[in-house]
Amino acid sequence: CGIVGYAGTNDAKEILLQGLEKLEYRGYDSAGIAIANSEGVHVYKEKGRIASLRQAVDLNETAQVGIGHTRWATHGAPSRINAHPHQSVTDRFTIVHNGVIENYSELQREHLSDLDLVSETDTEIIVQMIERFVTTGKSTGEAFREVLSLLKGSYATALIDQHDPETIYVGKNKSPLLVGISDGINVVASDAMSMIKLTDQFIELSDGEVVTLTKDDVKIETLDGQAVHRDPYTAELDPADIEKGTYPHFMLKEIDEQPFVMRNIISKYKDDFDKIKLDEDIRRAVMGADRIYIVAAGTSYHAGLVGKQMIENIAEIPVETHIASEFLYNMPLVSENPLFIFLSQSGETADSRGVLVNVKEKGFKTLTVTNVPGSTLSREADFTLHTFAGPEIAVASTKAYTAQMAVLAILAVDTANARGKEMSFNPLQELAIVANAMEVLTDQKEKLEQVARDFLSVTRNAFFIGRAADYYVCLEGALKLKEISYIQAEGFAGGELKHGTIALIEEGTPVIGLATQEHVNLSIRGNMKETVARGASPCMISMEGLDDEGDAVVLPKVHTHLAPLVSVIPMQLIAYYAALHRECDVDKPRNLAKSVTVE
Ligand code: G6P
Repeated sequence: CGIVGYAGTNDAKEILLQGLEKLEYRGYDSAGIAIANSEGVHVYKEKGRIASLRQAVDLNETAQVGIGHTRWATHGAPSRINAHPHQSVTDRFTIVHNGVIENYSELQREHLSDLDLVSETDTEIIVQMIERFVTTGKSTGEAFREVLSLLKGSYATALIDQHDPETIYVGKNKSPLLVGISDGINVVASDAMSMIKLTDQFIELSDGEVVTLTKDDVKIETLDGQAVHRDPYTAELDPADIEKGTYPHFMLKEIDEQPFVMRNIISKYKDDFDKIKLDEDIRRAVMGADRIYIVAAGTSYHAGLVGKQMIENIAEIPVETHIASEFLYNMPLVSENPLFIFLSQSGETADSRGVLVNVKEKGFKTLTVTNVPGSTLSREADFTLHTFAGPEIAVASTKAYTAQMAVLAILAVDTANARGKEMSFNPLQELAIVANAMEVLTDQKEKLEQVARDFLSVTRNAFFIGRAADYYVCLEGALKLKEISYIQAEGFAGGELKHGTIALIEEGTPVIGLATQEHVNLSIRGNMKETVARGASPCMISMEGLDDEGDAVVLPKVHTHLAPLVSVIPMQLIAYYAALHRECDVDKPRNLAKSVTVE
């Protein structure tokens, strides 16, 4: 979910709606705003996208203060009633909340047992409890702090009191929240991007802090009332980066940006002598590790699998890659001097953060590789490496994935160099070749659209098979296809298919094969033949030099360590066109959110 709040002199409605549009990547099941003026608090909320909310808002109602929310449902189905903002019984208090209150049933039993709640959300109990506490004589600020201190779980929340319509009360624990400041305008937002048009000065809030915010003042305190002073930082975001421009979808724009991202990474990680530039402390941390644990979710997890291969092959340090949401329940035996690397585009994924908090408590060293340097995972880890991909808006991740792998390749080589290994592989030069190869592929849109049409226009399912690093890319190719086109797709290790899953191959089932590594080329082609013998429609993607007559896509040659950065491009484009032909919402697939800040 995402939240925004505004106190200033302009029309709050439009600012909140625009802010929410930028936050839609955090969820888009339902959305709402509350605006406060001398006549009271007006709540507008709708199921579905911000576009529906826009239509519901009364254009004649103006106010200079307000809060807003876009939701990814956790407690309660996506409906208008469960949409935020939620109000207290008398409508005096109005709240928006991002996160999960774990002890909400307990609190409800203890404090609200006589009350019929309106919604099925955990949020509503917060606002109802605040009203109860105020009725017993506490001020709004006191009640707000007291209720927050009873909550277990995560929250980023903003509250308006009808009796004081110029003030917004804000609280944060685990879920991300920033306060933006400017002259006569103060805002609150889940990320800087949503308010960058108003200010680039942001204050990060820490867990357990509350803020009392008006257009002229921002007061930060801890839950027990201690004043907090913190300087703002400048958010380096170009508002143009978060617009689609002439592209029909962000996803296509972001696929096309990958060559630029590679060149950007090269320039950021190159020193004046064309050598790798890396923070000495990070170098030492990696060098000192006897084993590296990469922890990530979704597409970042897939980048982590490739990263494991790179670091093991190049730097010769053992690496394990783990799914963040499983790690704490299935904890490996950790080595004596581990380094934990958190891979996260957003730097906000709650599953990854849960692991970070846990391993930090144990005193282990942590490094976050992220696209958002001010993010929670970046702030809380010992070190950060930035992936410099620019804002990624489409829910399906593309450029962040290739950027993560590029940065891990640089890290691997830097470590190998520091360990005194002779390296013939120069990642900065090789990434420049990758950038050119990506360009060749992004120029083949018509052809890849045809591939999508030929293989995927009517099918219900599809398989992606590869071996070694190609297998990891197949996992990502399948994820791309399923998340945006809703075709059931599976990435499989070529040799494993015959041990069960081949039973699913029928006449015309699309099987996409990938061969970028010489040592697996013949065996994966053998696996493809096994599927063809059972009726599959084959679509072979191979690297120049390994190509055969009839291959659907031939990738320009790049260094074998970096082949995943190139081989994923046709898969991204094929998924894009498959979704387009099926008339799916490419940038905002159903049921998903880009940044999942609940565990
Ligand atoms: C969500 C997104 C995925 C993403 C994953 C991890 O589920 O829909 O595209 O890969 O979160 O996100 P992160 O920001 O941690 O890389």
